[in-house]
Amino acid sequence: MLKKVRKAVFPVGGLGTRFLPATKAMPKEMLPVVDRPLIQYAVDEAREAGIEEFIFVTGRGKVIIEDHFDRSYELESVLQERGKNDVLDALQDSLPNTGSVAYIRQQEPQGLGHAVWCAKRYVGDEPFAVILADDLILSDKACLAQMMETRDELGGGNILAAMEVPHEHTSRYGIIKPGFDDDKKVEVTHLVEKPNPSEAPSNLAVIGRYILEPAVFGILENQARGAGNEIQLTDALSDMLKSSPFYGLRFEGTRFDCGDKIGFLHANVAFALKRDDTARDFGDIIRSIAADL
Ligand code: G1P
Repeated sequence: MLKKVRKAVFPVGGLGTRFLPATKAMPKEMLPVVDRPLIQYAVDEAREAGIEEFIFVTGRGKVIIEDHFDRSYELESVLQERGKNDVLDALQDSLPNTGSVAYIRQQEPQGLGHAVWCAKRYVGDEPFAVILADDLILSDKACLAQMMETRDELGGGNILAAMEVPHEHTSRYGIIKPGFDDDKKVEVTHLVEKPNPSEAPSNLAVIGRYILEPAVFGILENQARGAGNEIQLTDALSDMLKSSPFYGLRFEGTRFDCGDKIGFLHANVAFALKRDDTARDFGDIIRSIAADL
């Protein structure tokens, strides 16, 4: 029987240099889109996809993330006194269950592959998901939930979220060499991390959602440094392809690169225009700004 994906790894050790000075003392994963930090969207997406255990690979300066996913008794009692029960309920609902969250320090930032490897003991010998909070996805059904469905349909395998990107941007992504392709699912025959456009096997990029078999840990253990002199997850996956099937899923939804200023601003506008509590007033503001451009 197909093993359920119960655990998700959230690599949150990155420095966020593209958002300085905002990220000097605050983790980039705590930047809010409307009123929720990026990492909250990532955890909510995982919960929607049925994830039960949440493993954060953190680094120095990231303890606020731990506080964010903890109870705040002082705040809760003030909200209660003031009768703000809806806010209180929302806060409590956003917390993962007690005992379901683990934090591991990645002592040196050696790349995404190394960050994932750090979660090895907590994940153990079962399939797991990886979510990069920088990649925020606005969709009706959570992207990871779509990937779980694809995994069920295929009877297992490793699943990557995939999206076509402009050809000149291939050097920002892991790029898929496609095999069989039904326009939604695509067989992955090779993967290259951040190739120059002239060397890229396609313009189909890996977006920050992965469902992986635990064999990846054995490969990451001995993974040589790759692009940017870092231990790259993509390189380990590329080795793993020889023994384990991989599929890319062209998910339904809009992805925002919140590791980038423009992508982050775009996400704020798109989410605010989608939410019932902000759409109308904010829509008026956006229309009036646009009229003056
Ligand atoms: C990481 C991965 C890359 C992937 C990208 C998606 O790169 O290494 O393969 O395409 O996330 O956002 P990063 O953006 O951390 O440099």
